[in-house]
Amino acid sequence: MSTGGKKNNNPDPNRRSVIIGGAAAIAGLAAGIVIGGSAFPKLEEKTQVQTVVKEKPIVSTKTVTQTVTKVVPTELQYQKQKVANISQLPSAGTSVITTYMGYPVIIMRTGVKSIGGVGPSSDIVGFSNVCAHMGYQPIVYNSKTNCLVCPQHFSQYDVTVGGMPVIGHPNEYLPQLYLEYDESTGDIYGLGFNRLVYGVYNNVLQAPSSSSSSSGSS
Ligand code: FES
Repeated sequence: MSTGGKKNNNPDPNRRSVIIGGAAAIAGLAAGIVIGGSAFPKLEEKTQVQTVVKEKPIVSTKTVTQTVTKVVPTELQYQKQKVANISQLPSAGTSVITTYMGYPVIIMRTGVKSIGGVGPSSDIVGFSNVCAHMGYQPIVYNSKTNCLVCPQHFSQYDVTVGGMPVIGHPNEYLPQLYLEYDESTGDIYGLGFNRLVYGVYNNVLQAPSSSSSSSGSS
């Protein structure tokens, strides 16, 4: 059963299709180049030269000298106001409740030389009568301890040392009223506060009034 040696003269159909396929591909490629060449004509490249003129901004500087006169209204200043007379403070431990420029204040005679004290013994001092913690008023003078005591949250300020808070919540001193003493008449004058009264941003601008009125003594 030998089949070897017999030449197969029938061409391989697969091989023939490869050859036909290859020829068709080459023809297609050639046609594509020709068609493509006419379908996408080559653009002509042109170089254009444009001239751009840049303009510089013109800057002019002008110096103007102006004199401004600022007028400070005289009413926006602390006033000198009588707040008590020494006859109302005959002994240590006495006090006067009154107002200065409309603010509640308390004037006390401590019996010991005090910071900011006036009078024969430098023991008469004045303070805002509004608590520096949350604005409660009036605060009460305790002559035994020389402290102003706030009934609201029981904070205390020592009036012999500039209203320093010694007990309680405040983290600042009680505003002290600067005083002036007239030896010839015994009158005591308020001249202004040393710090902001509770609740205002400007003691003078927001002063309730410019006149004082005495409301009691003890
Ligand atoms: S308001 Fe005076 S201690 Fe709080």
